[in-house]
Amino acid sequence: MISFEPLEEPLGALVTGFDPGREADASLVEELARGLADHSVLVFRGQEIKPEQFVALGHAFGELEILPEPDKRDPDHPEIFNLSNVRPDGTLVEFSEPQAVFLRGTQRWHTDSSFRELPCLCTMLYAVEVPPSGSATQFADMMAAYESLPAEQQADLDNLRLIHSYEYSRANNPGEMDPMDDEERAKFPPVSHPWVRSHANGRRSLYMGGHVSHIEGLDVDEGRTKVAALTEAVTTAEVTYEHQWQQHDLVVWDNRTTLHRVLPYDIANERRIMRRLTVANADPVI
Ligand code: OGA
Ligand code: MN
Repeated sequence: MISFEPLEEPLGALVTGFDPGREADASLVEELARGLADHSVLVFRGQEIKPEQFVALGHAFGELEILPEPDKRDPDHPEIFNLSNVRPDGTLVEFSEPQAVFLRGTQRWHTDSSFRELPCLCTMLYAVEVPPSGSATQFADMMAAYESLPAEQQADLDNLRLIHSYEYSRANNPGEMDPMDDEERAKFPPVSHPWVRSHANGRRSLYMGGHVSHIEGLDVDEGRTKVAALTEAVTTAEVTYEHQWQQHDLVVWDNRTTLHRVLPYDIANERRIMRRLTVANADPVI
């Protein structure tokens, strides 16, 4: 029997009673989906999850996204995104190389795959190896953030849409990365989503983050400044849970209602190996 114990934090719950060997059937998925809807972030500690079990769990939740960059896909399980600063030959990446630049991109507040027309539901991140210090991941509750704003500001945001662009966010990663080629650009054109999205529980949340290029219909620079200011203003400790990783933690978060970012760590000297699955969502952003 799975149970959810709310963390003594603004969001998140500790999941106990989960057995990765149990078949990921409809009733398990229903239980976990309810927990995710109630808590936005689910934390599982000390789970030894084999890649096959991980993929089966993800698949039971829904279709899995295949990440844009082929070099980050696990060779045996293309749905698994190897989020790692260790090269296949066991050596560590260098600070300035594209993989390190990409990893540092996740140090900005963002919500996964918001650059897609139909962005994902949730991400599942499993810690294979974690550094001794740094590299915690923060999750900020964007329903609480929206609700904390004055009604006038809510009404202003309710009427705006943001342009999310993978080309923009990738080019904006801290460091040099190859720009997108024409094929990638055609696959991931910029998309427009409402700044405030609505959820089945009747609540609304701010939907923004690092993939946002600008505000639709407004001056690009002005829009960027406004988005950055709001992000800075609402990602406070009052709405944030900071997860300190231990080996074999699994964290599942709802990308519809939260923003997240990883805190810096010594990327060129400390090993950090994570496996990630991203569960797609068939529902448009409304
Ligand atoms: C990501 C991400 C967080 C982490 O892969 O998109 O945000 O802790 N990862 O590595
Ligand atoms: Mn992410």
